Amino acid sequence: MKKKVRIETALAHAGTCWDEKTGAVSMPVYQTATFHHPGLGQSTGYDYSRSGNPTRAALEAVMAEIEGGAKALAFSSGMAAVDCLFRIFKPGDAVAVTEDPYGGTFRLLDKIFRPMGIDIIFVDTSRIEEVKDVLNKGVKAVLIESPTNPMLRIADIPAISAMAAEKGALTIVDNTFLTPCVQRPIDLGADAVLYSATKYISGHNDVLAGILVAKEQELGDRLYFYQNSTGAVLGPWDSWLTLRGLKTLSLRMEQQQKNALEIALWLSKHPLVTKVIYPGLTDHPGHKLLKNQANGFGAIISFEVDNHELVSQILSRVEVFLFAESLGGVESLITFPAVQTHADVDSHIREHLGINDRLLRISVGVEAVEDLIDDLSSAMEGQ
Ligand SMILES: Cc1ncc(COP(=O)(O)O)c(C=O)c1O
Repeated sequence: MKKKVRIETALAHAGTCWDEKTGAVSMPVYQTATFHHPGLGQSTGYDYSRSGNPTRAALEAVMAEIEGGAKALAFSSGMAAVDCLFRIFKPGDAVAVTEDPYGGTFRLLDKIFRPMGIDIIFVDTSRIEEVKDVLNKGVKAVLIESPTNPMLRIADIPAISAMAAEKGALTIVDNTFLTPCVQRPIDLGADAVLYSATKYISGHNDVLAGILVAKEQELGDRLYFYQNSTGAVLGPWDSWLTLRGLKTLSLRMEQQQKNALEIALWLSKHPLVTKVIYPGLTDHPGHKLLKNQANGFGAIISFEVDNHELVSQILSRVEVFLFAESLGGVESLITFPAVQTHADVDSHIREHLGINDRLLRISVGVEAVEDLIDDLSSAMEGQ
């Protein structure tokens, strides 16, 4: 959209009226691998769908617009986006990464990029001193997940971005858990934003997708070179599904966050729950920080139950919550991080992070909150 509008408006209009020929309101799915050239040396602007496809371009344009970046790229998964991002580093480069990232990110960096000669330094990015130390050691970039997965630690994005910029290092934020409706990393000083768009961005647990947004054109062009060279692009149909999901993102985030706060407060009072981790609770260590840099607290809650036996009881008895990996969709999901999302993280690291055999993580959806609470209650109390 040419007019400067608020994020809710830009989202509702994601991909509308791109097709000038027909005036189609909904972006057509350009299900084509290649494009007919009008003549020698002439192009419609599209040549081959790995290099560019109009449906994907519509998604990329709206993502760049709502993030305030110069260029966005859409990938076949969040991991494909992380993979592309790390291609910009060379053997000998050091990169600092939040020490409790998504398990798949940990596996890719630890088992693939580290053996290729990129020094991956895992740090607690919620501790500014630790980040300062690695920046002083000359890391090329800091990849922040905030809130982290599943411990929901909060990093001070403006402070880290400012320190990194002073040292000539990039700040990249995996903003999967909050989305641009809640936290806008580029406005906070970051150079790039990463999404598993499989989650809130698409929002319906029906598509795998990843997004990278670069603040500056130069970084965007470098990333595009690697994306086009390696080819893990988002297909036209999945681009359309993601565009369609984006239209309701702000509404979904609002409802999911509202439900999450109610559930977190309810869990906090439950006698079989020993710990509730949710940044929206005032006793969460990152509550104030997140309040300063975002306009919400997300809809992911981690909680510890009294004993391990209760974990399997809950997972087998829930009916509204679906026992499944992933997060961010309209349906509420419950997972057991120690054996699911974080199975590839070494057990001593899991222990250090607090990912134990009593920890559950829920992704709160848009259902009636009473049904969600009732479901957890009967699953915990065995009624
Ligand atoms: C924070 C975060 N980043 C990246 C990924 C990877 O995304 P995908 O599963 O779409 O490959 C995930 C997946 O759960 C995630 O939670």
